[in-house]
Amino acid sequence: MFDSLDRLPPDPILGSMAAYRADADPAKVDLGVGVYRDERGETPILAAVKRAEASVLAHQTTKSYVSSIGNAQFNRALEELTLGVEHPALAGGQVRTIQAPGGCGALRLGAELIKAADARSVVHVSTPTWANHTALIGGSGLKLANYVYYDAARGGLNFEGMMAALGKLPSGSVVLLQACCHNPTGVDLTDAQWRALLPIFKRGALLPFIDMAYQGLGRGIAEDTFGIRLFAAELPEVLVAVSCSKNFGLYRERTGALHVIAASAGAADKALSQLARIARTIYSMPPDHGAAIVQEIMGNDALRTEWLGEVGVMRARMTGLRNEFVQQLSASCPQRDFACITRQFGMFSLLGINTAQVHAMRVAHHVYMTDDSRINIAGLRAGNLAYVARAVAQVLRERAQ
Ligand SMILES: Cc1ncc(COP(=O)(O)O)c(C=O)c1O
Repeated sequence: MFDSLDRLPPDPILGSMAAYRADADPAKVDLGVGVYRDERGETPILAAVKRAEASVLAHQTTKSYVSSIGNAQFNRALEELTLGVEHPALAGGQVRTIQAPGGCGALRLGAELIKAADARSVVHVSTPTWANHTALIGGSGLKLANYVYYDAARGGLNFEGMMAALGKLPSGSVVLLQACCHNPTGVDLTDAQWRALLPIFKRGALLPFIDMAYQGLGRGIAEDTFGIRLFAAELPEVLVAVSCSKNFGLYRERTGALHVIAASAGAADKALSQLARIARTIYSMPPDHGAAIVQEIMGNDALRTEWLGEVGVMRARMTGLRNEFVQQLSASCPQRDFACITRQFGMFSLLGINTAQVHAMRVAHHVYMTDDSRINIAGLRAGNLAYVARAVAQVLRERAQ
């Protein structure tokens, strides 16, 4: 049976990771993989996570099953982190949450829920979007389409184009948005732009499906949820896929959740019952450990304060790196304006170089990024910023587009 299968090429990111590992050049720089790195180039376990984990292990008395919906206290803590404790949808009993195996699991659960409600739904994603969105959502069988988003010439948002595209969607369409730290562009909606989108969603009865994988790493914990909180207060239905991989550094523990905000408590209960069935038919129960750690942090004032401080450090490091990198780029490459990188948020930006130039960065300079020229800002550090900027300048000179 298996011999008849086609052998698939390796995933491009995993392939680039392997090439980076095999590269013996001491100057090599990995800007490809989407994980946070500190000044030493490491992806550390947060101190708050270490402490919470010790407490979980000391107090845990059983490894028996939890449930398909997961850890109820974790789910509640994430609802409050996403929506704020006093959100009207929480007060109105319209929010239900299912714990998920990471943000990816949450995205797939959301897609399966949409399919259960209406299998003809089309999910509209930004151009460009994170490659896995297409795989995770399309894998459910739902159709995908694109809407205008990134303005490559300015390294900003084509907001007029986006509004016009969303304004034309058939009633009931699903629109996938990213709450903050847009992957791969770093280009986020401002509060005013979220407000301006609201009437379009109301008029078109569009369903916002909001992916939040970087809460706290853009403008701040509450600031990064502006659009979610606004839409959840003003629209009858919203789906939010949350990941704890980056802001809690829990990547391999597969920790996340899907929030459903429905028009009534009854509708929310129906959606949750479907989600429990969906989870049951895919993986049955989510992994417990990461959620237990998050629950511990959120339920303990000292741990929570420590965690907020650590998220603040990650955020400040990336803002600082963006500014320093742009300074180095302007020094090495004055003919091109890279200032848009300082106006973007989170871990990613697109350098705006072509595939041949990305290849030259890898082969001639040992600097690794994805083929679309997405760089992980956190892969930069004081010791390699100037080197990467000089490499970009040289590649642009030698291989003009
Ligand atoms: C935009 C976006 N959504 C969701 C995720 C989900 O991550 P995970 O499944 O590791 O929690 C990621 C991770 O890179 C992401 O970049």
